[in-house]
Amino acid sequence: MNKKEIKACIFDLDGVIVDTAKYHYLAWKRLATEMDFDFTEQDNERLKGISRMASLDILLEIGNKNLSDNEKEKLAAKKNAWYVDYIIKMDTTEILPGVLDFITELKEKNIRIALGSASKNAMTILTQIQILDYFDAIIDGTKVNNAKPDPEVFLKGAEALGIDPKNCVVFEDAEAGVEAAINGKMRCVGIGSPAVLGKANLVIPDFNNFSLQQLNNTLVKVKPLPF
Ligand code: BG6
Ligand code: MG
Repeated sequence: MNKKEIKACIFDLDGVIVDTAKYHYLAWKRLATEMDFDFTEQDNERLKGISRMASLDILLEIGNKNLSDNEKEKLAAKKNAWYVDYIIKMDTTEILPGVLDFITELKEKNIRIALGSASKNAMTILTQIQILDYFDAIIDGTKVNNAKPDPEVFLKGAEALGIDPKNCVVFEDAEAGVEAAINGKMRCVGIGSPAVLGKANLVIPDFNNFSLQQLNNTLVKVKPLPF
């Protein structure tokens, strides 16, 4: 048997399965506006893959605000309530192109599937877009102590599936997520731009026409493991 055989795929959620960055942006921007400073889409790029509280710290740094932990908790809760208002209106049409076909193919070929997301809202989103049942394990922001680039979220995913990390492939749109996969000694497919995700073993713009065969060709037969 091929030692590098792909037995499991671990998916990040925001930016890989759905484009929720736009909703995070609207909610963070509203908070910034309330506090009288500007928050741009470019600033929002810095928050991808980063936990809610770490995102707030970056936002406050941009606005040059220094607040107590108690005040920060209140702001994070406020932002989250606005964000939840958006995501409870999501439906299946928001699943990014090609994702469902790829996940369906994985199921048919008995590849195990896990979610590895920093979001504490992952269950709400997966329920709204009706893909909860595809996942054999769900590790989200409620189940981890260490944010990406720490590999905890992906290692817990692999463990929950009972698959060795060397047989797992992570799908990520954020640099911190790609680093988390590498730190967990897993191979990684970047979804987005090679300029940002250059450390991944393979970078694709999206899941359109992506197949398990393409994944195997790229990751198993051609590209050697980096460790
Ligand atoms: C990540 C997003 O998936 O989840 C980040 O890329 C977000 O932008 C983080 O801050 C935490 O999300 P939530 O839903 O718990 O606030
Ligand atoms: Mg992401």
